[in-house]
Order: sequence, then C-alpha cells, then structure tokens
Amino acid sequence: MLRAQELSKRYVLASGTVQALKPFSYDFSPAKVTAILGPSGSGKSTLLNLLAGLDSPSSGSILLDGNDLSQLNESARAELRLKYFGFVFQSFNLINILNAWQNVAFPMGLTGLKQEKRKARAFELLSHFGLGERLYHFPHKLSGGERQRVALARALANNPEVIFADEPTGNLDSKSGAMVLDALFELAAEGRTVIIVTHNLELAKRADEVIFLKDGELTNAPVELGQPAIP
Ligand SMILES: Nc1ncnc2c1ncn2[C@@H]1O[C@H](COP(=O)(O)OP(=O)(O)O)[C@@H](O)[C@H]1O
Ligand SMILES: [Mg+2]
Repeated sequence: MLRAQELSKRYVLASGTVQALKPFSYDFSPAKVTAILGPSGSGKSTLLNLLAGLDSPSSGSILLDGNDLSQLNESARAELRLKYFGFVFQSFNLINILNAWQNVAFPMGLTGLKQEKRKARAFELLSHFGLGERLYHFPHKLSGGERQRVALARALANNPEVIFADEPTGNLDSKSGAMVLDALFELAAEGRTVIIVTHNLELAKRADEVIFLKDGELTNAPVELGQPAIP
C-alpha cells in the first residue's frame, strides 16, 4: 500500500517561495485506478514525482508497505523504484537506439536477470500488448500507440506494485489512447496500484478514485465527474 502523509513541497527561488504542494495525505488503494486532475500549475506533477521518489518532499513522508521513501538515500530509492514502480510518460521516453524488446528488457537487466530470461519476458509482455510482430522494431518505426504499448510493457518489466502514468494518452489518437487506458485498468484489476495524472475527462469519469488539486491543495472535484465530495 502506498501512503502519503502530510506531504508537501516548497520551491525556494530568488523571486520568492512557491508552495507547489500543501500538506497532502492520502492512501492509494491497490487494485484501483486513481486519477489526479487539476488545472495547469496545480501541483499534479509535483505530487506524482514525490510519490514516485523522483523528488524529495519539503516535509512529510511517502510510505510503501510501511517503508518511508523519504528517509532513503538516492541509491536506495533508485533500487526501490526499479523493483516496485513502473512509469509511463506522455512522450513515451523509449530509448531510440534499442529496439522494442530491448527497451522492455532494459529495466530487467538492472536487476540482474539473465539475458535469455529477459528476452523471453520482453517477448511475452510485448505479445500481451499486441506487439508480437514488432519485437525487433526500433521506436521510430512504431506509431505513437505502439510506442506507448512498448512503454507499458517496459513499465511491467519488473512486475511492479505501483504504476505511475503522467498524461499517458496526451500524445495519442482516441483509438490508441483507449487501448492504453484499457491496459491500465487491466493492470489495476490484477491488483496493482495505478496512479494517473490526466486532463482526459473520460478517464477521470472511469477512474475508481479522483484526486482534484487546485493551487497545490486537495479540493472537491467538479460535480460533472460525479465523485463524492471530500468530507
Ligand atoms: N522545479 C521547480 N522549481 C520551481 N517551481 C516549480 C518547479 N516545479 C514546479 N514548480 C511550480 O510548482 C507549481 C506546481 O507545478 P506542477 O506540479 O508542475 O503543476 P502541474 O503538473 O499541475 O501543471 C507551479 O507553480 C510551478 O511553477
Ligand atoms: Mg504537470
């Protein structure tokens, strides 16, 4: 279980201080899709980066199964991210000089899995996402939707407990976007914690939980999303 406790982030700049996230506490449920919504500049990416251990909070903690990420040093956090977290980004972030299966196998190499096992698992994951015919394609030979499915397969490389996605459908046409969303919901149905930053209202309506941020603060979601008000 991933839990944020009184998590906050302040950026100190020459021009003054920006409170990007006000103290935020939340339990992220396994087996659910949680959507993080809010206007531009409301702190969505800040929150996602803190939860994922990519940035350090100014105060508060992030607990993964009771272990506090904010107390770990950078190399311990990197190891934890590699084992327990998977990432999907708006711009795919594939490695251009590696083909599809090599991209998927890459995070497995970092945990020391043997070459033939890495390859077999990469093939299996890519086939699962309908890319069995694209195993040796380089990213520039793939469509946006295909690239994002490679990224999904890569996010699953080390069988993570939590998947973080920042605008995963932002660069996709609606058909490819729907495929990627279906896949993310399937991952939650398997028992994983899926956390998605999005502007996509269809996704927000479908999500099990919605976090709506405004000026760095948790607030009630707009009524059209049909989510219960925050008590
Ligand atoms: N590295 C940074 N340094 C200074 N200010 C930042 C930094 N990152 C984000 N901010 C500020 O924090 C606030 C929240 O930003 P962000 O989390 O990126 O919002 P969102 O993802 O919702 O658009 C904004 O006011 C932004 O300008
Ligand atoms: Mg952002």
